[in-house]
Amino acid sequence: MPDPLLSLADIRAGYGAGIVLEDVTFDLPESGSLAVLGRNGVGKSTLILTIMGMTHIGRGRIVWRGEDITAYPPHRRARAGIGWVAQEREIFSNLTVEENLTVASRQGRWDLPSVYDLFPRLAERRRHLGNQLSGGEQQMLAIARALMTNPALLLLDEPLEGLAPIVVEELAAAVRRMTGEAAGAFILVEQHADIALSLTQSVIVLERGRIVHSGPSAGLLADHAAMDRLIGLRLAEA
Ligand SMILES: Nc1ncnc2c1ncn2[C@@H]1O[C@H](COP(=O)(O)OP(=O)(O)OP(=O)(O)O)[C@@H](O)[C@H]1O
Ligand SMILES: [Mg+2]
Repeated sequence: MPDPLLSLADIRAGYGAGIVLEDVTFDLPESGSLAVLGRNGVGKSTLILTIMGMTHIGRGRIVWRGEDITAYPPHRRARAGIGWVAQEREIFSNLTVEENLTVASRQGRWDLPSVYDLFPRLAERRRHLGNQLSGGEQQMLAIARALMTNPALLLLDEPLEGLAPIVVEELAAAVRRMTGEAAGAFILVEQHADIALSLTQSVIVLERGRIVHSGPSAGLLADHAAMDRLIGLRLAEA
């Protein structure tokens, strides 16, 4: 068996003395994809931040391509090939779309032409400032900017949150194309459980910071009783 791309073993993490995640263990293979589901406040963003090195890790190990990165600061993880789209988007509002895209770009499969091809709306607005974009366009820009760093692993924290249904469809289609075309791995936190499961190979469901379900995404998508039990409220809320 080749080494996994990313491996979390028995992770306990949180903020200061406060523990949010407990006993979190999973492997992600090269080019693998993982959906992270669960209700509000269960620790999904904390898991993403923990992989990026932005929480306090009290126990356990994070291993990237065979190397223990548990104590690495965020910039070393980014340099190693872990890219991140924050739940808060965090695009540069006083830079143009194109400047946002090129500011952190690195050589690879994704470049300006290919991200403009993926998001034609960004090509149309290439000279607009970040703060002149709609919410959906800002989200497209946040994803496109992360792609431009050509990460081996892309972490997406609720990319469809707060968007109108028609924009959700447009963005989900782009994410589907992106994940179908790119060789990179990704982890997708999403409230739209059905979309997340249809885009990924495997899934974990969190409840109060612990993994309460893990398995193939297709299996959970087909198991209506388990979907209902694990994330039923989530679907009803959506
Ligand atoms: N910066 C922080 N400092 C202290 N506690 C935090 C911080 N960020 C989150 N928390 C706490 O950690 C817990 C998990 O929050 P987290 O944001 O990871 O949940 P989530 O599953 O991403 O929720 P949502 O679906 O609303 O995005 C919550 O109790 C939250 O209050
Ligand atoms: Mg969150």
